[in-house]
Amino acid sequence: MNQTPTLYRAAVINPLNNGNWRYLPDAGLLIERGRVVDLQPIGAFGARPELPCVELDGVISPGFVDVHTHWVQYRVRGRFQAQLLPWLKEHIWPEEASFADSALAGALAEQFFKDSIRAGTVMGMAYSSAHAGALQAASDVTLGDWLIGDVVMETDAPDALVAASAKDIGELSARAGRYGPQRYAVTPRFALNCSAPFMRDMGQLARQQGYYVQTHLSESVEEINEVHRRFADAQDYTDVYDRAGLLGERSVLGHCVHLSPREWRCLAARGSWVAHCPSSNEALDSGRMDLTALREHGVKYALASDVGGGPSHSMLHVMQRYLDQHRAAGAAVAAGEALYRATLAGAQCMGRGAYAGNFAPGKRADFLLLPRLNAHQSVDSWLEEIVQGGIDDLETRVAATWLGGIRQNGTR
Ligand code: GUN
Ligand code: ZN
Repeated sequence: MNQTPTLYRAAVINPLNNGNWRYLPDAGLLIERGRVVDLQPIGAFGARPELPCVELDGVISPGFVDVHTHWVQYRVRGRFQAQLLPWLKEHIWPEEASFADSALAGALAEQFFKDSIRAGTVMGMAYSSAHAGALQAASDVTLGDWLIGDVVMETDAPDALVAASAKDIGELSARAGRYGPQRYAVTPRFALNCSAPFMRDMGQLARQQGYYVQTHLSESVEEINEVHRRFADAQDYTDVYDRAGLLGERSVLGHCVHLSPREWRCLAARGSWVAHCPSSNEALDSGRMDLTALREHGVKYALASDVGGGPSHSMLHVMQRYLDQHRAAGAAVAAGEALYRATLAGAQCMGRGAYAGNFAPGKRADFLLLPRLNAHQSVDSWLEEIVQGGIDDLETRVAATWLGGIRQNGTR
């Protein structure tokens, strides 16, 4: 860790709690021991000429947070097939079976985290495969601040994955205990891969030991119909998880595309988070999450790539798809809100809002550098512009990324 105080001089965008932002065209961001000490117009630091100063050409933003991704699907991202269930069977589960090879898992994990940093993602929540070894491989090479869990696949999956999965709560608890609640998330893959008793056990473990829970909820119509058949005594899909005690403030539900008003009320009452995956919902033709209903019910949410359903790990790409999709449906969404949902909201979703996600004093100095505004350009127009372009452009738009004040990479 760099112990010396360092002043970074550049433009800075700082997302605020209410979805607004503060923009400083010529700012000083003072970092010491990996933490933000101060953010002010550069003139405010005039009395401290002794500070080492790094001048950067661009806009400093907090690093991105991706609250739902599958690192084990990185190699097959964008291998499209409309419709979730056949895609899982034909493309995803065969790929995940190859993570029985821990050496391969280690190499792919390294690539995933390196590329994530390259694209500006500094934190997130990731699904691993069912294998304990792959989870360890990812944990060994993590860059940034991640919650990761091995997917529980107890039933209705290929034999090799069922065999690799934790079989009961004793085994799952032992796996979780190697990492603890700051690193590990209890991860029932989705209701169709789990029995009600095992889900209840997972709910209890998470509550008693303070683990995060991540799972998929209400993504495709075919999936939902199958859940209703399989769990006929539940009121609906959300109720399957609620009865198991899996819904609380540390629960993050991916997708939530087809929820009824009762289900929205339930998520709001439990204080659970939605991981909103617009690029994946589009790629798998799952439907559009009802942003208006989510807002009306006051449900908390953050953005996520859902790689490999989502074709790119770039949160700029996720922000682009979020804005385009909801605007096309007539919902009002601002680019500033997209930035908030891809940074501070993600940190809050992960329980790290007090020490990550923006540049409030004391927070961890995880940040990135974006291209600067053109002359006379408004900040709103710049926010729209940084999410324009194709996947290759978006994945390389971030010029460099810092973790705890240490520069990780960079091309410019
Ligand atoms: N539902 C269960 N597993 C998965 C997965 O790997 N990706 C997506 N998008 N949905 C799922
Ligand atoms: Zn997913």
